[in-house]
Amino acid sequence: MLADLVLKNRSCRRFYQKHGIDLKTLKDLVNLARLSASGGNVQPLKYILSYDSQKNALIFAHLAWAAFLKDWPGPNDGERPSAYIIILGDSEISQSFGCDHGIAAQTILLGATEKGLGGCIIGSIQRENLRAALKIPSHFDILLVLALGKPKESVMIERVDVSGNTRYYRDNQGVHHVPKRSLEDIIIG
Ligand SMILES: Cc1cc2nc3c(=O)[nH]c(=O)nc-3n(C[C@H](O)[C@H](O)[C@H](O)COP(=O)(O)O)c2cc1C
Repeated sequence: MLADLVLKNRSCRRFYQKHGIDLKTLKDLVNLARLSASGGNVQPLKYILSYDSQKNALIFAHLAWAAFLKDWPGPNDGERPSAYIIILGDSEISQSFGCDHGIAAQTILLGATEKGLGGCIIGSIQRENLRAALKIPSHFDILLVLALGKPKESVMIERVDVSGNTRYYRDNQGVHHVPKRSLEDIIIG
């Protein structure tokens, strides 16, 4: 059921790092994005896949994790993603990418969730450092990085209370809580 998949597809930032993800799995996920909507059907997105520890380490070094978890620098070695999909915009095809990369990211993550994997969209990227590390040609815009792995954390959805605070938090048991606004609050007419 799509509703179950959407609910299960929470941003996950700690993984069983030893659980590998192979190239075929990553290609299957990108194929879902390939078949998704694209503004004007221009299809300007390109992808870099990473699933070996050396390349993963190069990518990990340039990402920022969970801005609201102030005391947490990101996943420790052993709990890091076992794969990444970097979403690029090819400026030789188009100068603007609309919301294609958001659609691609969500589609890939839903596909990953269906396969028992999990992940996180990372927009906070040291883009020029990552470009240099992976030798990404300048005509590709680095749009998003998707971190992927076998989830090692539990995430619960909470209701945003009257204060309107949407900050996610982690409790003493390490459970991650994500406040979501109610349906009544977001449908305005
Ligand atoms: C465009 C976008 C950029 C994001 N960038 C980051 C990021 O740089 N680092 C991070 O840890 N999480 C990032 N996230 C994940 C959000 O923090 C997460 O979606 C939010 O806390 C809600 O949790 P949920 O995905 O489980 O609903 C990003 C999400 C989106 C949609």
